[in-house]
Amino acid sequence: MAQPLYPVPEAWAEGALIDAEGYARRHAASLADPDGFWREEAGRIDWIKPFTQVRTTSFHEADFGIRWFEDGTLNLSANALDRHLATRGDQVAILWEPDDPANPERRITYRELHEQVCRFANLLKQRGVGRGDRVTIYLPMVPEAAVAMLACARIGAVHSIVFAGFSPDALAGRIEDCESRIVLTTDEGLRGGKKVPLKANVDEALTRCPAVDTVIVLAHTGAGVPMVEGRDIDWAAAVARQSAECAPEEMGAEDPLFILYTSGSTGKPKGVLHTTGGYSVWASMTHQYVFDYRPGQIYWCAADIGWVTGHSYVVYGPLMNGATTVMFEGVPNFPDPSRFWQVVDKFGVEIFYGAPTALRALMREGDEWVKKTSRKSLRLLGSVGEPINPEAWAWYYDVVGEGRCPIVDTWWQTETGGVMISPLPGATDLKPGSATLPMFGVKPMLLDNDGTVIEGPGEGCLVIADSWPGQMRTVWGDHERFFQTYFTTFKGYYFTGDGCRRDADGYHWITGRIDDVINVSGHRMGTAEIESALVAHPKVAEAAVVGMPHEIKGQGIYAFVTCNAEVEPDDALRKELIQWVRHEIGPIATPDLIQFAPGLPKTRSGKIMRRILRKIGENDTSNLGDTSTLADPSVVDHLLANRPQLA
Ligand code: WT7
Repeated sequence: MAQPLYPVPEAWAEGALIDAEGYARRHAASLADPDGFWREEAGRIDWIKPFTQVRTTSFHEADFGIRWFEDGTLNLSANALDRHLATRGDQVAILWEPDDPANPERRITYRELHEQVCRFANLLKQRGVGRGDRVTIYLPMVPEAAVAMLACARIGAVHSIVFAGFSPDALAGRIEDCESRIVLTTDEGLRGGKKVPLKANVDEALTRCPAVDTVIVLAHTGAGVPMVEGRDIDWAAAVARQSAECAPEEMGAEDPLFILYTSGSTGKPKGVLHTTGGYSVWASMTHQYVFDYRPGQIYWCAADIGWVTGHSYVVYGPLMNGATTVMFEGVPNFPDPSRFWQVVDKFGVEIFYGAPTALRALMREGDEWVKKTSRKSLRLLGSVGEPINPEAWAWYYDVVGEGRCPIVDTWWQTETGGVMISPLPGATDLKPGSATLPMFGVKPMLLDNDGTVIEGPGEGCLVIADSWPGQMRTVWGDHERFFQTYFTTFKGYYFTGDGCRRDADGYHWITGRIDDVINVSGHRMGTAEIESALVAHPKVAEAAVVGMPHEIKGQGIYAFVTCNAEVEPDDALRKELIQWVRHEIGPIATPDLIQFAPGLPKTRSGKIMRRILRKIGENDTSNLGDTSTLADPSVVDHLLANRPQLA
């Protein structure tokens, strides 16, 4: 099949930070002499004490360990703030756009941000938070979320952001797991004109978390929420009493920076731990090269700070690079589907980084919503979170970018800290749907199921052969689980969980997860998590969850549910279960289809044959494979005959 190729536009080839020749040379050098390469790249960070040791890394059981720049010291908030004060103190650091366009935007300069961070850092210290202590952040997209992150980094506290769309239950689980004593929130969140009761959610979660002694509450919508005496503090009043000076702590490169929970194929969400030095180098470097970023350019990453994209590409990467970073509280289709592009025009956004799921939803609304805006400031577009289908790519390129903006399709994961495989706008010819080529220091490889290396063009399991600075260091509280999850499937390699095809040009095409993880609207969900929420319902005996193709979300959630013997499943129960899962996990886990099944396909030893359920989920039932080992093959016929369709 002939692939359309979009060569690097001439203007980009000339002016870019990295051109095709530079990319090839530096990528080769980064693999041939990693120590030399990273010694130089790490110079982008202001180290307090320079490192002498570049890396001590092994993916093998005998000497397993991942340490970068380990004898160096630094402070990330100083790299994101203090270092800019002399040269760009009055430049806007955060450009905040509210949910409702009728309300005013906020422009916070580097100097103002520095002051707010210092004050909040002092408040945290006054509440007894110090180096290594965990701070749970349950905040919507308000500038104070960035203030809180940077304040933690300033004093060496470890933040754990919980997406403000998660339920009280999910919040409580994450507070318990990392044993934080302090939670930051707002009275309410605001998204698409709807209020989200964040403080009430915290109150509900904390009935389970008696160790939490401080809740700092930002008055955002002004709803008068009940405050618990001695525990709850009003953000603005408390901050006003603090000094505007706070010296940054000298942190070791391997001191923890943040925990971010993410779903895996089994068990509870894992607390992915990133550390200070390597993450700083990686977030800053990838942000600069992938977006060809020059200080002062208006840049907008539309991700929420509750996900890793928000950490690395709304806050840390851009601010380390002296950016004006746009922070958007709202949603793409409120008040109408022009919103993204209106904000682009309002602020003169040059670089826009978004998710395919939002593009697909907007695409469906028609081109007029885009065309009535100018977008002449746009120079570069980015995509992240899931494979971008060719139709959405073409629409993004032709309609949004009017054929003039390269699209960087960035493949990476919570675990990788930053972008791993992506075009560079001045270096890489584009193929729609391909994340193309690896970032410096990244050596992707394809293995087949028995671990044989696939050379040249082919398809297999995507692994990374060696460590990179932004790699996660452990699963919080469970180092063994870290090793087991990522380094035992293929000995000596980091296993990504993704499938991938490599074409004759060495371009990478991510084919999606090959484990029991599904990608719903760019959000990662463990099927096991949704299953355990379902079976917690008193009427449910058993549940199995798989992905299904979904026009907007990429993947939808398809749940097979077996009820207890005395239960007559009906539509009312279906609705009840959907509400139940939303309450247990959050709206992002809402099942799209629930099929009641008297039995699930199991082997004689009682193991559910997920392969068959996945095929039914994909509506690809022509070839279900071998069903002869099933205890009761007729179960499959029943499932097929009763497959519901999406409304
Ligand atoms: C999974 C990681 C990347 C940060 C946000 C999501 C999928 C991510 C792409 C892409 C194809 C992609 C992968 C990956 N994914 N980006 N450009 N093309 N697939 O982080 O929640 O940790 O999810 O998202 O399956 O493993 P995450």
